[in-house]
Amino acid sequence: MEENKKVIFSGIQPSGNLTIGNYFGAIKSWVKLQDEYDCYYCVVDLHAITVRQEPKELRRRTLEVLATYIACGVDPDKNTLFIQSHVPAHSEAAWLLNCYTHIGELSRMTQFKDKSQRYGESVTAGLLDYPVLMAADILLYNTDLVPVGSDQKQHLELSRDIAIRFNNTYSPTFKVPDGYMPEAGARIMDLQNPAKKMSKSSDNPNSYVLIMDPPDIVRKKLSRAVTDSIGIIKYNDEQPGIKNLINILSTATGKTIKEIEKEYDGMGYAKLKNDVAEAIISEIEPVQKRIKELLEDKDYLESIYKKGADKANYVADKMLSKMQRKIGFVPRAR
Ligand code: TYM
Repeated sequence: MEENKKVIFSGIQPSGNLTIGNYFGAIKSWVKLQDEYDCYYCVVDLHAITVRQEPKELRRRTLEVLATYIACGVDPDKNTLFIQSHVPAHSEAAWLLNCYTHIGELSRMTQFKDKSQRYGESVTAGLLDYPVLMAADILLYNTDLVPVGSDQKQHLELSRDIAIRFNNTYSPTFKVPDGYMPEAGARIMDLQNPAKKMSKSSDNPNSYVLIMDPPDIVRKKLSRAVTDSIGIIKYNDEQPGIKNLINILSTATGKTIKEIEKEYDGMGYAKLKNDVAEAIISEIEPVQKRIKELLEDKDYLESIYKKGADKANYVADKMLSKMQRKIGFVPRAR
């Protein structure tokens, strides 16, 4: 019975074209977990507008992200797939939770510090507040587990702190969620600067591989990936470029790091890069085909996000009412 299953919540911003970091760090785990859990997977458009988006592109990408979830194997019949702005409780709960969150906590978030540097004085309040909206997303659904890449760990810890603070202020209201991070895919690094995580917002297209990149582009980007002059294929921190390639190969093929090190003992970097490219291509090629098909069928996508929003609204509204009651708001007359 669905009622007895533990709950999963996760989401991806439609703020750029998705990379293999989003795929290996998040979506691949979602597919693995979908039979065991009651899962809510959201396209977080409210988060995306923390930086300026072109309206037409935002609309296009929101549907493309939804199509990507499905194309990667997230089954719309088993999971609740929806668009964040279709469930107003997320924005309302975020406001309430704002009042239980400290400015100090938010300004210490690494992602805020990095991103706000880029915008200086014109950084939006939304960017600072972004982790509170994420806490609202998670806490509204009585979530047990949040499958994300390791860059979201700090935000997740803040969600836990906010939940605990609210529970302690009133009485137990929220479940305190745990993170779920895949072993090899939790942090896919930038191909040009392996000290940074691979990001859809990077200015240099050679630094990431997009889920929608055609095979020859994937090969070209991998052949240009920054490595080192050591010449040995070993998984260690002195060789961050090689470490990243081994990680990608491990998550794409299911082979362990040890198996890969043994297999590539004595081989050159070109062979490794080539095999990583082919492993990525064999994962993403069928996905690309399916995304294109799904995007042709807007009615089908609409039926999925409508069904998803209906269920999500029902669950989220119940939690929102509970929060309002605990805080002391007069219940709305019906
Ligand atoms: P976003 O859109 O930046 O990324 C979506 C997911 O992809 C993971 N990810 C990576 N994993 C491994 N290596 C990488 N290089 C890499 N880049 C991205 C992220 O960890 C994430 O899991 N705030 C979130 C979205 C969000 C959310 C939520 C997530 C909003 N509400 C509630 C979970 C629960 C974000 O900006 O992810």
